[in-house]
Amino acid sequence: MMRHLVVPNREVEAVLGHVRARGWSSLSHRVFSSEDGHSRLIPLDTGAPLELPAALEYPIEMHEGVPDEKIETDWLSLLASEVSQQTIQELGESWPSNHEFVGDMMIVRIDDKVAQFTDSIARAKLGAHPHIRLLLADYGVEGEFRIRQLKPIGARLADRVLAGPSLEFAPPELLTTEVAVKESGRIIRCDPTKAYFSTKLQTERLETLALAKELREEIGGPLRVADPFCGVGPALATLLAEADLVSDLLATDLNPDAVKLLMSNLSKWDRRTYPEGAIELQRIHENRLVGMANALTLGNDSEFAGKWDLVLVNLPHRTIEFLPAIIPLLDRTSPSMIRGRVIVEESEIEQVNQTIHAILPDLMPAKPQPSLKIKRDYSASLRLCSFQAWIASE
Ligand SMILES: C[S@@+](CC[C@H](N)C(=O)[O-])C[C@H]1O[C@@H](n2cnc3c(N)ncnc32)[C@H](O)[C@@H]1O
Repeated sequence: MMRHLVVPNREVEAVLGHVRARGWSSLSHRVFSSEDGHSRLIPLDTGAPLELPAALEYPIEMHEGVPDEKIETDWLSLLASEVSQQTIQELGESWPSNHEFVGDMMIVRIDDKVAQFTDSIARAKLGAHPHIRLLLADYGVEGEFRIRQLKPIGARLADRVLAGPSLEFAPPELLTTEVAVKESGRIIRCDPTKAYFSTKLQTERLETLALAKELREEIGGPLRVADPFCGVGPALATLLAEADLVSDLLATDLNPDAVKLLMSNLSKWDRRTYPEGAIELQRIHENRLVGMANALTLGNDSEFAGKWDLVLVNLPHRTIEFLPAIIPLLDRTSPSMIRGRVIVEESEIEQVNQTIHAILPDLMPAKPQPSLKIKRDYSASLRLCSFQAWIASE
C-alpha cells in the first residue's frame, strides 16, 4: 500500500509538475485513473512529507502502487540482450519482478531457478534503474536480531555496471550498505545488513500515528511511548515528527548495531545531543530512556514498569509469546494501548485473537476489540498481521 494523491483530471498535469519538481513522486509506479474516471491517483514516494503544502492539498488514498510497466519492459529488454528470449519465457515468473528500494540500494530475491543468471539480472536491473548504486540479493531474515542476509550482486561505478567477478574491483565506499532513507519527510539512517529495517512498513507506521493521535485525545495530553524492540527507530521517526504527541520515550533493542544507528537518528529527530555508539539502556535526557536492553526484563524494573501509554511490539514471530512480559510496562491508571504485529497461519487467526484476549488485561468497551488484520502474505500459509488493543484503566 502506498499514499496516492487523488487529483481531478484537469489539474493532474499541474500537480504532477509540483510533485515531480520536489522529488515526491514514486519513480517506479505510475499514475492511474479513479474508478469513476473523474480523477487520477498520483503515487507518492515514501519520502514525501506527511503534511503537504497548500498547492498539494488533495485527498490522500492508500492504494497498492501500480508498477510502471516501462521500467519492467526496460529491464526485461536489457536482460534479453544477454539471455535468450526462449529462456526468459521458459523461466517466466522466476525472474525477479519485485524489489525494494532502500536509499540508493535495490534489494531483489533471486529464485534458485534463475540463480545462474545473477550477473545478467544485475546488469539489466541496474541498467533499468539508473538512480540505483548497489544491487543486493536477499536471502531472508535470520536470527534474534531479524537481520536480512544480503549479498551485493551489482554496483554502478560512474557509467559502468559491475557484476560478477568485476565486483571484486569495486571500491569499498561503493559497496557500503549504510544509507539514509527518506520517509514521511524524515531521514532514517539504516544498514539493512546490520539491523532490521523495512521500507514496506511505512503504511503500518502511518496507522500507528493515527492511533497514537486517537489515544492522545482519550488521555487528554501527549503520550509516554515505549518501543522496546525499536531497531533503528523508524516507528519513532513518524511519532516524534508530530508536534505534542510524544512526551516521554523508552526505546530499546538488543542489537548493538541497531542502537548505534538509533542514537544517530534520535539526535536528528529529537534535535538534542545523544551519545554516539551502542550504549546500555540509560536516561539520556529527563524524558528519554534509550539504549541496549532485553525488552523482556524491563517490566520487572520499577524504573520502567507501569509508566507507558503506548507500547509497540514489533517482533512478529514472537509477539504473542512476549506479550505477558511486555504488558507490565503499561500505565494502568489511565487508558493505554498495545500495538503489535504477529505472524500466524491464516487458519489460526481466530484462535490467536482469542489468545490475545486471554493474555491482555481489561479492554476499553467503547473501542473496537483487538483483532488481527492481515497485512500481507509471509509465506504460502503464514500471514503477517497487525493489531491494536485499547486497554482500560484499572
Ligand atoms: C522485526 S525487528 C523491528 C525493528 C523496528 N521496530 C522496526 O519496525 O524497524 C525486531 C527488533 O527486535 C529486536 N529484538 C529481538 N529480541 C529482543 C529483545 N528480547 N529485547 C529487545 N530487542 C529485541 C531485534 O534486534 C530487532 O531489531
